[in-house]
Amino acid sequence: MCGIIGYIGKKNSIPVLINGLKRLEYRGYDSAGIAFFRNDKIEVRRCAGKIRDLEASIKNENLKSVIGLGHTRWATHGRPSEENAHPHRAGGIVLVHNGIIENYFELREELKKKGHVFTSETDTEVICHLINRYAQKGLGFEDATREALKHVEGAYAVGIINEKEPDKIIAVKKDSPLVVGTGDGEFFIASDIPAFLKYTKNVVILENGDMAMLTHQGVSFSNVQTKKPLKKVPSKISWSPSMAEKGGYKHFMLKEIFEQPRAIADTIRGRFSVGKGEVNLDEFSMKESALKNLNKIFLVACGTSWHSALIGKYMIEDMARVPCEVDIASEFRYRKPFIPKGSLVIVITQSGETADTLAAQKESKKLGARVLTICNVVDSTSAREADSVFYTHSGPEIGVASTKAFTTQLTGLYLFSIALAKAKGKLHSREVKKLFNELLLLPEKVGKALQCNSAVLKIARKFCQVRDFLYLGRGINYPIALEGALKLKEISYIHAEGYPAGEMKHGPIALIDNDMPVLALAPDDNVFEKIISNMEEVKSRGGKVIAVATEGNTKVLSHASHVLSMPKTNYYLTPIIFSIPLHLLAYHMAVLRKCNVDQPRNLAKSVTVE
Ligand code: M6R
Repeated sequence: MCGIIGYIGKKNSIPVLINGLKRLEYRGYDSAGIAFFRNDKIEVRRCAGKIRDLEASIKNENLKSVIGLGHTRWATHGRPSEENAHPHRAGGIVLVHNGIIENYFELREELKKKGHVFTSETDTEVICHLINRYAQKGLGFEDATREALKHVEGAYAVGIINEKEPDKIIAVKKDSPLVVGTGDGEFFIASDIPAFLKYTKNVVILENGDMAMLTHQGVSFSNVQTKKPLKKVPSKISWSPSMAEKGGYKHFMLKEIFEQPRAIADTIRGRFSVGKGEVNLDEFSMKESALKNLNKIFLVACGTSWHSALIGKYMIEDMARVPCEVDIASEFRYRKPFIPKGSLVIVITQSGETADTLAAQKESKKLGARVLTICNVVDSTSAREADSVFYTHSGPEIGVASTKAFTTQLTGLYLFSIALAKAKGKLHSREVKKLFNELLLLPEKVGKALQCNSAVLKIARKFCQVRDFLYLGRGINYPIALEGALKLKEISYIHAEGYPAGEMKHGPIALIDNDMPVLALAPDDNVFEKIISNMEEVKSRGGKVIAVATEGNTKVLSHASHVLSMPKTNYYLTPIIFSIPLHLLAYHMAVLRKCNVDQPRNLAKSVTVE
């Protein structure tokens, strides 16, 4: 995830910026840069790679400036490179940006027609050009910024400096975090508090639509559109630096679970048009004609990403009626798969570097298939080697246990299934709009689902000492049973198994006794009654049933000893909502058992060996 730091004060800003960027390193990044004043001109230094490379490149320059901006970039549009690194410049306007500009393509084309020359592949650069355009028309720095941002759709946290008004930093926030730090005669902006925690603990957290103007005299706040002044009182942060890195959460895993409403919102941003009833196929780098001609799909992945693949099969076959096969990558690569003409292999990988997945991808290409990767890390090996890429915009995932990457992969698969179904003539525009409208509600519903956290903690307290755990699901939620079990094993070291509930009577039922907790996924769907029968089978043998059900369902209450209620959504999105209490349960059990949640034993975030 990109990081922002900005400074104005009496100190030399260069070491403050470098130190601030280092404090943001934990967020993950692929390039870094700073902007500062020298002889009344703004200069920019950037490089692909690490902050220490940037530091080394400026070491002998003896740079001094009392005002400056710094940035670490996690690529979303355009590969990691020096040209794509921030700060970006247009004329005298230099800025750093976090977030995603939805309409950057249209804006860039318009500006190009008016003679603007772009030097990067980023969405960010359009903001600089727009502000510069208004500044050239005679507007002051502040008004040019306000005017430019009226045209920008999407999420942004921006820090801007201007050669013509050298004693100011302007910062604006919409849907991407931005904070202001107020010290003694020195002021900061940052995407995250740890960037300036060393210098001040007084913080103002900006709200959507807030503009902050930082000068040597202080900070003033206003609404970016109405210009109405805003009164903001800094609050004192008592977090330790390590807590601050995790946004106040105890572990990265918990932070990442709670980031999901934002991660999903970023993943769907600009990816479809409700009005036109269309998925933006550029985002899959595919044409509708290519989709029309597909007659078979293979989904290949490892671990949690494989669970996404299993759910993807339900979505694709149900919506688009195209047959799918799902494989674990380490099996696929050696099983001599038969891939008929007209097949697409969809590889799913958070890191884009998993050895087995990459080998399966290579094998698919060798066998003549077209490959689409659903991937989180821009310019990773999988992304570079695939024919088409859909990037999930969940931001870097630091906890070894995959959470927000999983739900954003499912979001990508949902969009792909709609696009394919539409191309195949299996969905009417009316139905497509309905599916989009439900997707638009998803971030809010995920936020609501997260409110089960304290109820889940209570359940975890009750069961954290058990030896085994069984998860049951049916249909599209059967893979969620597998996912719940994998998470529990991975981080709490409790033996757990996930089963399709109807299969329980063929073996696992022998395990049920008074000590066996069984978590049953029981949404309101076509197999609800069936799962209720399975829960009864468990109860009658003394097992303890924890049910995850749709809110408002009262029938489930008499069949379980604990019930977690989840917001209602459509059939295809249920797995996203229902994965939330399971991830939280694994998390709390692991914490209660004093396990190393973010770095479980024997595991690595990216499995780059076979
Ligand atoms: O980066 P990938 O999605 O390719 O990683 C695949 C698995 O290694 C990963 O999902 C793993 O199972 C997680 N630790 C599960 O939480």
